[in-house]
Amino acid sequence: MLDPYEVRKDFPILSVRRSDGKPLVYLDNAATSLKPRYVIEAIVEYYERYTVNVHRGVYRLSQEATEMYEDSRERIARFIGVSPSELIFVKNTTEAINLVAYGLDWNPGDEIITTVMEHHSNLVPWQMVRDRYGVKLRFLDITGGGTLDLEKLPDILSERTRLIALTHISNVLGTVNPVDDIARIARKNDILLLVDAAQSVPHIPVDARRIGCDFLAFSGHKMLGPTGIGCLYIRRGVEDQVKPVFTGGEMVRRVSLDRSTWNDMPWRMEPGTPNVAGAIGLAAAVDYLSRLGMDKVRSYEDRLTEYTLRRLSEIEDVTIYGPRDTRFRSGIAAFNVGSIDPHDVALLLDELENIAVRSGVHCAEPLHARLGLTGTVRASLYIYNTMEEIDILCDTLKKIVETLA
Ligand code: ALA
Repeated sequence: MLDPYEVRKDFPILSVRRSDGKPLVYLDNAATSLKPRYVIEAIVEYYERYTVNVHRGVYRLSQEATEMYEDSRERIARFIGVSPSELIFVKNTTEAINLVAYGLDWNPGDEIITTVMEHHSNLVPWQMVRDRYGVKLRFLDITGGGTLDLEKLPDILSERTRLIALTHISNVLGTVNPVDDIARIARKNDILLLVDAAQSVPHIPVDARRIGCDFLAFSGHKMLGPTGIGCLYIRRGVEDQVKPVFTGGEMVRRVSLDRSTWNDMPWRMEPGTPNVAGAIGLAAAVDYLSRLGMDKVRSYEDRLTEYTLRRLSEIEDVTIYGPRDTRFRSGIAAFNVGSIDPHDVALLLDELENIAVRSGVHCAEPLHARLGLTGTVRASLYIYNTMEEIDILCDTLKKIVETLA
């Protein structure tokens, strides 16, 4: 079993105390994770020891930097079970989804299916595609229990469905969606499948090839890596359906004044100087998670999630959203405290005990509208969180209820 107290020693920020002596209780991991020393050191090492450009120089340092960059790609690709030529470095999940949205050739009347539980990154790009190319957008609803209403999928599938784009794990409800089942349906009907894995790759073992999707997107900063780096997996065989959206240096093979030809995958999709330090930092994060073991990460988080849901449900006035069964749920707990404004709850948690949670609509406004809510408080967990911290959260919530409710 993963020992969170051992893990905590690797995260410098966790030993920083606020001026009143309170340690940080960081429960906003769905927004971004903390960074271990190992990742920070890998980035510093790149900048201090071989900070030169990649794929350009014949001198030794440039070759070394290129090797580090491409080796990082290989380690990250292995982590999600794909080949390095299928893994493109991007800025974040949002950019990855936009590359697919604008890279595919759309015909008026094509249809895209997405769900009401998406965060804005996996919704707004499809709205833009709809408005620009006359594509129809259809939505899969949720059940009262906060899972996808898969029984309704046949009603919205049609001969014109080109793409299903859905999240693997909801960033509000914590619901783990059955992406393998959906992949089977997509394949049978010759439909492309994009999985937004921003909330899954950091927390559960993910094998993109085993899922059977065509595209999979995730961000580095939610999985112990730096900001500004993420990945887009494009399954070999569909790459020619996705045109490069951005063009310029690096992504070309031959260039004349008249025309240019494209480089091979994955470089074809990476114009300009890449985020070398980001890739190296993300590969270090992947090493760190692999050493812990993703199965252990998942089982520890499941245990912590069960504890969190149980402790929260003991507090009168607290309403929790999303599935209760941790087989269908990851470590994200969105809740409300009576009729207290979620931002007030978050401000008080910070003020009283240095607890960091997110409040509001969590970049998922349509889901809140679907649930008839104007906002929620969200506690989201990771490997360094402890049951003790959940006790601090719940004891402080009780105080808030006693004072305000
Ligand atoms: N999508 C991120 C979150 O859920 C930013 O907080």
